[in-house]
Amino acid sequence: MSSDFEKAVNELQESIMEDARKIYSEKVIERWLNPRNLGKIRKPDGFAKVKGPCGDTMQISFKVKDGKLSKIKFMTDGCASSIAAGSMAAELAQGKRIEEAAEISQQMILDALDGLPEESVHCALLASNALKEAIKKYFDSKRNDWAKQWNEDIATRGE
Ligand code: FES
Repeated sequence: MSSDFEKAVNELQESIMEDARKIYSEKVIERWLNPRNLGKIRKPDGFAKVKGPCGDTMQISFKVKDGKLSKIKFMTDGCASSIAAGSMAAELAQGKRIEEAAEISQQMILDALDGLPEESVHCALLASNALKEAIKKYFDSKRNDWAKQWNEDIATRGE
């Protein structure tokens, strides 16, 4: 790369970052550029993919150990705010008891990110909804497992 070209690229990047800093908090920018817990867990205990009103989606998958979210990941095809919100939702939920993680709200994510622009607050709702839905699915699957076991027991006893 010629040094003139490198300089132009650096200037462009700096100008993009300058614009971003006018709109987003440092915490949002940091997670947008370097999201935590990004990805998808194979054979998760809980999983959900939720679509927001903007049409973007958020996936949450997690593993449970001793009643806590031992591992959690998110994926989104949404905007910078949704990446930051998914990252923060996963960070807040990591290591929490499932019931506590289910309480993680849009406002908690917004507070932890030091806010989002008004037009992007729904991105935090998408992250919160995806987390809650994955937890709901986890409990549903537990109930189904229990029902399955119960049916097997009945079948074994010939009732
Ligand atoms: Fe769709 Fe942010 S998630 S605009």
